[in-house]
Amino acid sequence: MNLDKKYWKNFYETNNTNWDIGYASPAIIEFIEKEVNKNAKILFPGAGNSHEAQYLFEKGYKNLYVLDIIKLPFENLLKRCPQFPEENIIVEDFFTHKSSYDIIIEQTFFTSFEPEKRAYFAGKIYELLKSDGKYAGLFFNHKFNGDFPPFGAFPHEYKEIFGNKFSFDKFETATNSIKPRKGKEIFFVMKKIN
Ligand SMILES: C[S@@+](CC[C@H](N)C(=O)[O-])C[C@H]1O[C@@H](n2cnc3c(N)ncnc32)[C@H](O)[C@@H]1O
Repeated sequence: MNLDKKYWKNFYETNNTNWDIGYASPAIIEFIEKEVNKNAKILFPGAGNSHEAQYLFEKGYKNLYVLDIIKLPFENLLKRCPQFPEENIIVEDFFTHKSSYDIIIEQTFFTSFEPEKRAYFAGKIYELLKSDGKYAGLFFNHKFNGDFPPFGAFPHEYKEIFGNKFSFDKFETATNSIKPRKGKEIFFVMKKIN
């Protein structure tokens, strides 16, 4: 299966985005509001409809960047939040993106790529972080039965994939998952090893 632009675009065009929880993820919001300074440069890769970015923008976080290979979800974001700065909206392939961030937020983006791409993915997250940067968010703690996204992983696999580049500040079953994902997610914070 080719998990390319056409693959993802079809979900948005047919309004079949069942990964989208429809509002800002409580686990991510709680982490950012408690632990991240309002000036931090934050990237939401594979942001889709960008509920977290909208919520935080409206709370005064202004250095937020949303990136996705598909433009359509950003049209939805701008309809909901016309003040969101267009220069902070990036329509690009994550793997070609160049910049540097204090924080990169994960939510069902890692799961979008085949397991063979995981080392490359981890390397790209590393490259996009500033020297004391952090990658944080939610991972599934189990696998799904399919050869298409979402591709889950077991907890020990994350340590294998990221452990040589990042130290884990937090890696535990999320306490504030949405109901259908309760007990099935890990909340993590990893720090780039320099
Ligand atoms: C499963 S969805 C998750 C969307 C969002 N994080 C959420 O939780 O609602 C994966 C997203 O990643 C985007 N995507 C897939 N491959 C990408 C790539 N190579 N570069 C940037 N975005 C990509 C898709 O278009 C889609 O919006």
